[in-house]
Amino acid sequence: MSGPSLDVARLLGSGLLERAAETLAKRLAAEPDDVGLLRSLGRVQRQLGRLGDARAVYARLHALDPEDSRAAYLDALLAGRPERFPARPPGPWPAPYAAMPDFLSGERHRELLDHAQRHVAECRPVSVAGDEGTVQDAEVREGLVFDYPERICAWFRELVAARLPDVWQSLSAVPLREQTIELKMTASRPGDFFMAHCDDRFGRRVSFVYGFHRSPKRYSGGDLILYDTDWSGEPAPETDFTRIPNRDNCLVLFPSVAVHEALPVVSDSSDLMDSRFALVGHVRVPEGPER
Ligand SMILES: [Fe+2]
Repeated sequence: MSGPSLDVARLLGSGLLERAAETLAKRLAAEPDDVGLLRSLGRVQRQLGRLGDARAVYARLHALDPEDSRAAYLDALLAGRPERFPARPPGPWPAPYAAMPDFLSGERHRELLDHAQRHVAECRPVSVAGDEGTVQDAEVREGLVFDYPERICAWFRELVAARLPDVWQSLSAVPLREQTIELKMTASRPGDFFMAHCDDRFGRRVSFVYGFHRSPKRYSGGDLILYDTDWSGEPAPETDFTRIPNRDNCLVLFPSVAVHEALPVVSDSSDLMDSRFALVGHVRVPEGPER
């Protein structure tokens, strides 16, 4: 594993991207069809996690040049219209993802928070899966994991499985005829993070994160960074990315082969119930080993 977690967190926290977006928007007001300016603005908006604004830019670029396959792809991706994906030429491309806001009913969401309230004190440090089994490695990941009853596991898995037929195309993934869904419940305190990595081992095909927290929210950060990935398996420079803002009650799925990271959580609260909670997991082929 290797990753620029702190670099990205610093970049996003520096205000540089916000200033770049403002400058580009001003210049575009004078030159609205400047393709170079539009490409730069689209990139900055995508990195800031302003995905609606980014989509508008890529739709404009696509309209200006219907042959621009990158603009066509990002327009389709950010609009949630995978049927419009063009063929991807070789090289790094933005990772596809599917976001499902309001994933759980209010009742199910409350059930998770009630469980967290009762059991968060029993949390233990989270491990990462390596070749030698699972290990704790504070340079790669910091956070807490806690147990949950089979009842929660069963209904959550069922809800994820029910949505999978809708997302294979969105994720440019080949549907699995049978699958197993791995699941972990985590709590991220101030400073907790998971540096850049990919999950495509042990037969994993799709990764997902469902974030939840109590209201009012007492933290920022914890966003998902999806790096542009070379789908031929070649390593890609981890420079361009899409930031998926962390939202309560939203399930985000992405291909396990995509390089991704979780940005550090920022908070001044020491109450564990103010953590960024998540159910995270993978959809994998049934014959993979349990992790
Ligand atoms: Fe992961």
